[in-house]
Amino acid sequence: MTLEVVSTAERPELVPTVAGWVWGEFWRGHGHTLEQTLAAVSATVTARDLPQTYILLADGRPVGTVSLAAKDLEERPELTPWLAGVFVEPESRGRGYAARLVAAVEGVCVKRSIATLWLYTRTAERIYARCGWRTVETVAHNGKTYALMRRDLIGLSSATALRRRQNQCAVNAIKAPTVPNARVVEPLHLPQRHAAAHRLVSDRLPSLCQDASDRV
Ligand SMILES: CC(C)(COP(=O)(O)OP(=O)(O)OC[C@H]1O[C@@H](n2cnc3c(N)ncnc32)[C@H](O)[C@@H]1OP(=O)(O)O)[C@@H](O)C(=O)NCCC(=O)NCCS
Repeated sequence: MTLEVVSTAERPELVPTVAGWVWGEFWRGHGHTLEQTLAAVSATVTARDLPQTYILLADGRPVGTVSLAAKDLEERPELTPWLAGVFVEPESRGRGYAARLVAAVEGVCVKRSIATLWLYTRTAERIYARCGWRTVETVAHNGKTYALMRRDLIGLSSATALRRRQNQCAVNAIKAPTVPNARVVEPLHLPQRHAAAHRLVSDRLPSLCQDASDRV
């Protein structure tokens, strides 16, 4: 089994798949249409900076997605950037794929010398904690309570240290491995960007975690 993380800029033909996931899991419940979601995900293909959206491929097949966004939680506008919209298709869950997605975004942030990454969740706190994240407070948002979590990336700046953390994260996540001989293709290079990118939405994929169900 080969696991690889690619960006929407590298694989724009995967945008409809990702948009379908994001809409069904996060956006539909907040009144957004599939077309709006498609426009937002499409914007990540040519965005010069954030948001970026990544896709996990298992033997070349898309199985999950994650985004890196400048803004995500309106109650904490001073915090940036955010890990958002973590999603693994239902039939591929329980294999530690979420940890692979998280590690990929952490790697991007390390390369950009970003010291701290943020997320909020009410469904997946345990998963992130296994990956080294810590809860700093609970936040009320849209009438629900979320864990606000941070990941400190200072000290992970060497490739060796990062790989060690990623491996540990994967070991922690895949408690009963279901993916023998998995090989991770390092996803950490950022693709060339198209110049003069026009944005269809703001630099934010809004509230990607807030509508996640309680399935985890
Ligand atoms: C949350 C999510 C990304 C986890 O992805 P994953 O790749 O299955 O993560 P893991 O393999 O680490 O498994 C997570 C948990 O689900 C359990 N699990 C096992 N098989 C499962 C299955 N078939 N379906 C769902 N969960 C399963 C795992 O045992 C693990 O439980 P634990 O945390 O108590 O140890 C995924 O369930 C998902 O996309 N959920 C909907 C969107 C969502 O809630 N995103 C998080 C927003 S912050």
